[in-house]
Amino acid sequence: MKKKKVLVTSALPYANGPIHLGHLAGAYLPADIFVRFCRLCGHDVLYVGGTDEHGVPITISADRQGITPQQVVDKWYPHIRDTFERAGISFDHFSRTSLPIHHQTSQDIFLRLHEQGLMTARTQRQLYDEQLERFLPDRYVEGTCNFCGYDQCSGDQCEKCGKPIDPLELKTPRSKLSGSTPVVRETEHLYLKLDKLQPRLEKWLSKPDKKYWKENVLNFCRGMFKDGLKERAVTRDLSWGIPVPLPGYEGKVLYVWFDATIGYISSTREWAEQQGDPELWKKYWWDQKNTRLVHFIGKDNIFFHVLMFPATLMAYGHYVLPENVPANEYLNLEGLKFSTSRNFAVWLHDYLDRFEPDPLRYYLCSNMPENRDTDFNIREFQAHNNNELADTVGNFINRTLTFINRYFDGKVPARSTLGELDRKMMVWLSKEGISDDVGMFFDTFRFRAAANVFGEFSRFCNKYFNDKAPWKSRKSDLADCATTLNICAHAAYAMSVAMFPIMPFSAVKIWKQLGLSEKWEDHPWSQDYSAKIPEGHKIGPVEVLFPKIDDEAIADQEATYKDNQQPQKEEPAKTPEIAFDDFLKLDIRVALVKDAQEVPKSKKLLKLTLDVGELGERTVCAGIKGQYAPEALVGRKVLMVANLAPRKVMGIESQGMVLAAVAGEGGSEALGLTTVDPERDLPPGTRIS
Ligand code: 2FM
Ligand code: ZN
Repeated sequence: MKKKKVLVTSALPYANGPIHLGHLAGAYLPADIFVRFCRLCGHDVLYVGGTDEHGVPITISADRQGITPQQVVDKWYPHIRDTFERAGISFDHFSRTSLPIHHQTSQDIFLRLHEQGLMTARTQRQLYDEQLERFLPDRYVEGTCNFCGYDQCSGDQCEKCGKPIDPLELKTPRSKLSGSTPVVRETEHLYLKLDKLQPRLEKWLSKPDKKYWKENVLNFCRGMFKDGLKERAVTRDLSWGIPVPLPGYEGKVLYVWFDATIGYISSTREWAEQQGDPELWKKYWWDQKNTRLVHFIGKDNIFFHVLMFPATLMAYGHYVLPENVPANEYLNLEGLKFSTSRNFAVWLHDYLDRFEPDPLRYYLCSNMPENRDTDFNIREFQAHNNNELADTVGNFINRTLTFINRYFDGKVPARSTLGELDRKMMVWLSKEGISDDVGMFFDTFRFRAAANVFGEFSRFCNKYFNDKAPWKSRKSDLADCATTLNICAHAAYAMSVAMFPIMPFSAVKIWKQLGLSEKWEDHPWSQDYSAKIPEGHKIGPVEVLFPKIDDEAIADQEATYKDNQQPQKEEPAKTPEIAFDDFLKLDIRVALVKDAQEVPKSKKLLKLTLDVGELGERTVCAGIKGQYAPEALVGRKVLMVANLAPRKVMGIESQGMVLAAVAGEGGSEALGLTTVDPERDLPPGTRIS
């Protein structure tokens, strides 16, 4: 494999709260698996990230808590950084966008685009909260999406259909701050001419290598191109953010989505400074020929990473464009969306206080929302740990090492003549075996498939152990017993390298138990795993790799979110559609109540005598007893279906049906009669349609 520079980014999380498993599965775990794989392949990898510390999400948090935005981000930056580290997300550098180096990088890029005539000043009509006397940035507004009708749509981007939103186009907008209906006022902003950059973007995205991109990403772009990219405002009326570096724009800041993606560059610059070579960042960002740039994101960030950021980089020049943007769909929690505000989430730091990171990483990798939304289910997670990890992977490694200890004094025995089963295992252990199979999937961002092949291999290893039965051959054929355990030791090694990207902590434990180096640098990918361990090599102390997780621990974790689950809105019962002609068959008339009597022995019924004009007088039984005193109904005009076939009710022939509001199953409870507007003197018998 040709060695490359691999520059990997994961979406910068807002520094306004903790990370949950939905975040982890979306943009961090896949990136980490990929970079660990690339490192073992010997590529020159740089994985950068950081926190997104500007924008309205931060100021909203600050407003809610009555603290400053700076206090918000200062609290969450270390929390997020440390949580990632505990989960094994191996950033080479984790920066923050409130740092001067980021302000300077963003302002430089902004000015360059401005100088190139790619920005235009426009007087913008913007929503203004009159109660609070302030302009409302997009995210301070919500309403109904003008594209898909989602009624909790945020004023910047629709969570449901993913389209960027113009808050002025929202139907029924409301201020998130005061709840009032905002008014429109004028303010001047700078717009990036994305429409002018569309042809370059289209050309870039139509290159042949893009056909390997995920369909969700390509479809999104096709849709955007078809509608035509629009100019997009890149400045905001806010006091928190990066000041617009132009005279006349004092008091305004850069749009957070303009600066956030630039955060990847500033993070690399900060890293380079810390390496003692401030220009080193260009070796990655400015080497268009040799750098593979990959952005890992969730699907809600596609627009900014595939259109807006590349447009910015193209316009600036020099910069490498992403080789791929493998955007994930969403991970849900037990069938429902994660919700930070309702605390309906499994928080990563909380999970890590209870369990090891690797079982979670393996479960999420097997269940990654690569092409569709998937679900985190706590019992499924438990079963995955107990069956696939404890009973299969852990069991195989434990038996192998325990037997080597017991029968061969802790020294890997010699391999001699191979039988058929041994040769099958040798295929897995060869260069073209597990390493190629799993590697191909890692390299193409198919992490679920990689986990599947790994699972298949671990089951094969267990079966090999069982079929070769070294506890028997030990007595009958010691050379074969030695061969089996030699091969098992190598299979354990192959397993450890293949699992390193997904379960790095466990891989290191296996290396230790095998008595090998604990540094990943000493375990390159793509090798002949069958010849790694010399005969007589002394193994290390044996420990259980994957303890089982019991029901109590699961119930404890479940309790952290279970009560915060909100019942999903029940879909209103749907009645079958009818044709207009069927509706016309109903003869609905105004009817005047001439008389009303209780029906003896009936709990529900009143007998009404109705004047229906040209249709004459009708007797109708109505289930409204208890709702009205009979005498109070006399003289009211109601609506009735006049052409219903007569039927006998409690011995009375009912010649139609009065219309009423009903409740209960099948409309079993009448709440009130439908009366006719008393101000309209509609004569009895008037037809309704
Ligand atoms: O959606 C978010 O959470 C953003 N903070 C992601 C930014 S990604 C990149 F632009 F930094
Ligand atoms: Zn929408």
